[in-house]
Amino acid sequence: MKKRVAILISGRGSNMQSLIQAAKQADYPAEIIGVISNNPEAKGIESAEKKGIDTAIVERQHFLDKAEYNDMIDAQLRDWNAEIICLAGFMDILGAPFTDLWAGKIINIHPSLLPLYKGLHTHQQALDAGAKTHGCTVHFVTPSMDEGPTILQAEVPVLPDDTQDTLSARVLIEEHMLYPQALAMLARGEANFQPN
Ligand code: GRF
Repeated sequence: MKKRVAILISGRGSNMQSLIQAAKQADYPAEIIGVISNNPEAKGIESAEKKGIDTAIVERQHFLDKAEYNDMIDAQLRDWNAEIICLAGFMDILGAPFTDLWAGKIINIHPSLLPLYKGLHTHQQALDAGAKTHGCTVHFVTPSMDEGPTILQAEVPVLPDDTQDTLSARVLIEEHMLYPQALAMLARGEANFQPN
């Protein structure tokens, strides 16, 4: 039985596309059953729709507080019978009640070799630090941002004349290979996280 996976996005959705592409393989252990965006303008929503995948927009501004907003996301996920959540460029912080509820079943891709360079502008952070290597991480999501246990990482070299753009493009190629591998590990039970 393939695991039912929902993807949360806010923008371009290139990692979402790589997961959808990977899930087309007959022997892939997961299927993508829905995509939620907190941004109605997200490019990724359009491409998911074109592929015939269910989509939903849940905007923070339509709710009184974070709890109600997170509850609506949770309700949509349960409506789809989602078993795993992949955050893929989801530019919002989900509350602890939500991430605790989904602990061990919610993962994220972050464009750095965590624990280095949490938060935003990770490529610039790596350049500013004079890093010789950089990369990306797929990790379990916990209430603390960019801190959950790592599932997989991929490394790239930082070249002498790199800019944010050249470096992020090199990392993105790795992201598109890494995320499907990490999701497959979780779906097969080869990656686990049980909070205390
Ligand atoms: C990626 O770099 C991802 O690692 C980060 O946000 C970016 C999203 O890009 N969390 P895309 O929407 O998947 O193209």
